[in-house]
Order: sequence, then C-alpha cells, then structure tokens
Amino acid sequence: MLSIETADLSRTYKIKKTRKTPASTLVALDKVNLQIQQGELFGLLGPNGAGKTTLIKILTTLLGPTSGSAKVNGLDVVSQSRELREHINMVSGGETSGYGLLTVRENLWMFSQFYGIPSRLANARIMELLKIVGMADRANTKSSNLSTGLRQKMNIVRGFMTDPKVLFLDEPTLGLDVGAARDVRAFVREWVDSDPTRTLLLTTHYMVEAEEMCDRVAIINQGRVLACDTPKALKAGLRTDAIYTLQVDALEDEGFEALKDLPGIRTASRKALEDNIELELVLEEDSVLTRLIQFLADHGSTIRTLHKREATLEDVFVSLVGVSMKDVENSNADQDYQE
Ligand SMILES: Nc1ncnc2c1ncn2[C@@H]1O[C@H](COP(=O)(O)OP(=O)(O)OP(=O)(O)O)[C@@H](O)[C@H]1O
Ligand SMILES: [Mg+2]
Repeated sequence: MLSIETADLSRTYKIKKTRKTPASTLVALDKVNLQIQQGELFGLLGPNGAGKTTLIKILTTLLGPTSGSAKVNGLDVVSQSRELREHINMVSGGETSGYGLLTVRENLWMFSQFYGIPSRLANARIMELLKIVGMADRANTKSSNLSTGLRQKMNIVRGFMTDPKVLFLDEPTLGLDVGAARDVRAFVREWVDSDPTRTLLLTTHYMVEAEEMCDRVAIINQGRVLACDTPKALKAGLRTDAIYTLQVDALEDEGFEALKDLPGIRTASRKALEDNIELELVLEEDSVLTRLIQFLADHGSTIRTLHKREATLEDVFVSLVGVSMKDVENSNADQDYQE
C-alpha cells in the first residue's frame, strides 16, 4: 500500500522586489513524483536549498502546493488536511519547540494533550522514550537549560510520542554528536521495522545517514528528483566498484578537460588543495589507471598520493549533478553573497 504519493507536485515562492533586485519567482519544487510504500524508511538527500523542507511542509499540510497534488496515508494534503494531521507528526532539526520554563516531561506532556492522548498513556510513553534516547535523568530539567543536542532529542521524543502512522523528520541528527546521532538512527530504524504499517520520511544532507539507514533514497537538487532507488541500486548505477582519488602537483584547465575525455573515465572532478590538486575519478575498470598515469606523466603532472575507495551516494550525486553537494552549497552561498 502506498503511504506517500505525489503527482507533479510543484511549489514556487514569490520573492518580493528589493531596492537592488526586481520581484521574481523561485521554483522550490518542480514536478515531483514520488511513491513511498507503507513500511518504508525513505530518505530525501540533497544540498541546502534543494527543496527538502518545502516538500516536508507540503506533506505535513503546513504549506500548500502551487500545482500538482499529494496524498499521505490515502488523504489529500489540501482537501483532507484536518483528518490527515491526526495520523502524522513532524520534527525538524534545530527547532526551538516547547516552553523553556517547563521541564522536559511537562513540555512533552503538553504536546501529548494537543493530540488528545490519555494522560496516563502519555506519561508512560514519555518516560519510555526518554529512556531510549538516554534522557530519563533529564525528565525534570527545564527545557531552557538543555544543550542543543538534548533539546533535539526531546523534539525527537515529541515526534514519536503520538505514535503517528507517518512520521516526518527534517534533518533529525542536526547538531547531535556522533554517539547521539548513532542512537537516533538506530531508534528510527527500529521504530519503522517494529510495525509494518509505519512509514518514515527523513531529509538529510549527510550521506551516511541516507546510505546506512534508508530503504530508498531520492536524490534531489534544485527542486527536482534526479534519482530514486535503494542506496545499493543507486551506487550500482555508477557501474563501478571503485573511485580513485589522486593528488597531483599541478594540472591546468586544458589538461583536466583532456583528461575527462580519456577513454574509460566515467566522471572526473577537480578540487584545489593548499599545495596540490585533488582529482576524483570514476573509472570503468582498474586497467584504465595505466592510461591515466601515462596521461598525467605526459602533462608534466606528478602524482603525490593515490587512493582507491568504495563508491558512496556522494559519487552518485556527482554523477547526476556534475559537482559535489558541498560545491552546490558553496555556489549557492556565493550567489546569496553577491545578491
Ligand atoms: N518562505 C520562503 N520564501 C521564499 N523562498 C523560500 C522560502 N522558503 C524556502 N525558500 C527557497 O526555496 C528553496 C528550497 O528551500 P528548502 O528550505 O525547501 O530547501 P532545503 O532542501 O530544505 O534546504 P536545507 O538543506 O538548507 O534545509 C530555497 O532556494 C529557499 O531559499
Ligand atoms: Mg531544510
């Protein structure tokens, strides 16, 4: 059974004119078609500004689509939003929810009452969940006195507490330390696995998060879904076992362009380091390496280091977009700065 379904879902934002720029329209989601099955742990992976939060806001009825449609748990997000809200919950990383004056337990209890959960059941769930995230000893701490990571854990408890059919987590591990992030991931995975009628959609721009915990991942950039499959299938699409990272002392633009055209090189990217230039190459097969080494020697480029590693979803992103997710984010930041 389908849990989440979107049909040509689009959303634009009107950008007001300023003294320097005229009014414009920004396309945040561009004809998104997703079908997510009940029981799936589904990930949206994409750089800053890709449209992940916009999509989550539409699916949780907080924002209307500009065109197209979406259903969650069989209910239309626009015409059946009231009913839909009873079956879903949402937590976003870095949010400052709750009242600082109330304790962790009081805050969570208050939210449980918004959902009409009987008080005794709510209290039991709260304590159980706090234990799971390792916060049982903080139940009586004022939420204003929590660290960022602990506050995020409290928010996560708030999401699970209502036992939703479909749960949306927007950057759930943002701001958590390595250990806490690992705990949250494990808990999320177990929550989905322990009841086949549950579905969880999360957004992330952490590759490991998408790769290690999600059943399927949609890679999204500039409002478009570029690929959607299991992490394994996405990586298999690269048709390679290995990625090579080389540091060379120099390689001019011209040389790099010629290198990209060498037979057997699927994708190539280049990054300037302090002293060296780092090349990241996806080769058709290991034997292409011989040709590559010869090519670099012919172009007066000395190899300083060479590493072989397994393909990751980051490589899938590069193969789809042409640049890394970091580079997309940096160029977005540059644009903002210029504006
Ligand atoms: N209220 C708004 N008004 C105008 N533009 C907006 C608004 N909200 C989002 N945008 C723009 O829409 C695009 C998508 O934003 P969105 O927040 O959905 O991205 P995201 O994938 O969640 O990014 P991040 O990883 O940074 O959270 C961005 O270009 C953003 O600047
Ligand atoms: Mg976001």
